[in-house]
Amino acid sequence: MHLARTGAFLRALRVSSLSEVDPKKTAATSSLIEIEQDEHSQSSTDGTSNWSETKPGKSILGRHYPSDQTTNVTDTILELVGRKLYDTPNHPIAITRKLIESVFPPPVYKNHIATYPVVSTKDNFDVLGFPEDHPGRSRTDTYYVDSKTVLRTHTSAHQHSAFQHIADHEENGYTICADVYRRDSIDRSHFPVFHQMEGARTWQLPPKNHYKETRLQQQQRRAQMIRGSIDAMPKHGLEIIDEAGPYNDHTNPIQIQHDPDDSQLVVEHLKRSLEQLVQKVFTAAQEARPDQKQEQLKVRWIEAYFPFTSPSFELEVFWQGEWLELLGSGVVQQSILNHAGLNDRIGWAWGIGIERLAMLLFNVPDIRLFWSQDERFLKQFQDGKITRFESFSKFPPCYKDISFWVRPSPASASPIGAESSSGVAVAAGGDSKKASPAETQPAAFHENDIMEIVRDVAGTLVEDVRLVDEFVHPQNGKKSLCYRINYRSNERTLTNEEVNELHQKVTDKMMQLPIEIR
Ligand code: PHE
Repeated sequence: MHLARTGAFLRALRVSSLSEVDPKKTAATSSLIEIEQDEHSQSSTDGTSNWSETKPGKSILGRHYPSDQTTNVTDTILELVGRKLYDTPNHPIAITRKLIESVFPPPVYKNHIATYPVVSTKDNFDVLGFPEDHPGRSRTDTYYVDSKTVLRTHTSAHQHSAFQHIADHEENGYTICADVYRRDSIDRSHFPVFHQMEGARTWQLPPKNHYKETRLQQQQRRAQMIRGSIDAMPKHGLEIIDEAGPYNDHTNPIQIQHDPDDSQLVVEHLKRSLEQLVQKVFTAAQEARPDQKQEQLKVRWIEAYFPFTSPSFELEVFWQGEWLELLGSGVVQQSILNHAGLNDRIGWAWGIGIERLAMLLFNVPDIRLFWSQDERFLKQFQDGKITRFESFSKFPPCYKDISFWVRPSPASASPIGAESSSGVAVAAGGDSKKASPAETQPAAFHENDIMEIVRDVAGTLVEDVRLVDEFVHPQNGKKSLCYRINYRSNERTLTNEEVNELHQKVTDKMMQLPIEIR
């Protein structure tokens, strides 16, 4: 820590332990981890400056950030910052968080909560190995506070700090829970703010060059350490389909720095630990619906890709007749561990979207409900229990269409209707097929820009926005798109006038986009 050197009070994040989420204690003293921010964001986050009076910008949990041309975070999004659903008594997000933590308890794991959502692009992308042109970095996908600062898109933004914490403390692993932010489509399973949990486990391996031992003995001693932790895990009764294996030389390689035996054992431990998680969580969910026939729980491992792990895996679970993508995971890139001072360690990490899981467990049909302050929602849940949500009523939808021409530009081809990332569950880093970065194509229309306008105007009063028609004019080559905006509240019936007013505002705001309303 170089507080004295910089002379400023700097925090890139506040990862506080669970016992320290008391809002009265959000000052630096409550932080378990304080790390220096990158050069750029230092000036803007110095609490002693009076930017707020002199420069336009954004205030986020008491700190002011001057805006620049990269800024795209909206006030509607900022209103949702600091709600701490993960720490709200009897809230399904908090109940799910605690259930996951119970599978990864102290003293092996330290359970962190990262309360402050603003991070540097360095922490969110660079240190994790995201290439410069990764779509996750684009302004169409990520909320920029300024050109070097974002609302974190995943909990992995805190990996480096949490690994540093391990270097200085007794624990060998961690979980981190945090609210994360992504610009994305609007439907019943996507909301621009959601919650993630991440976990990691490391082993300090005995050095290889112990002079009295043969190579084989060394190998066995190293293997025993991880094997020992695998054997110590309780057995589970899941059916497992492993399509990925421990690695694949071509598509999912072991890192060159790693001894293949060590890596394979780490993968085995990773898989068994996460199967443990599924077993615990889904058994609890099955118990909550005793009327249903108890199906054999089934999981499937498939190969994945993340810039910060290799080999990497996705875990899917078979639930109510469908395969659902649940989480991303893998063997941590050694450079990340080394960078945090853990050179002699090897380890795994995983990340999971809490909402997706909570929607299944509690039978919540619409992600917006988690933000509801309506007693009819909140009263239905109880700490430590998984209960089935009963819809209190279904209020009528009211949809409106909006049609427009987009400029014929080569850039607009891919982003429109591009397959959205899985958003709720995994994805930052995983989905490189997504639309290309907007920075390189400033005039291109991107579907997420409509989503953002609708969000900004209608907030939680919109259920989904879908592309319903698309065609190219045969003469002038212009493309026409029609989106259907479905206005519906979970709490009351919207009036016609109200919806017309909202829709007019959306239409007016759409004029800012590189489109022509029809
Ligand atoms: N951060 C990843 C995501 O948001 C999930 C992940 C975490 C994957 C840790 C691997 C290891 O998609």
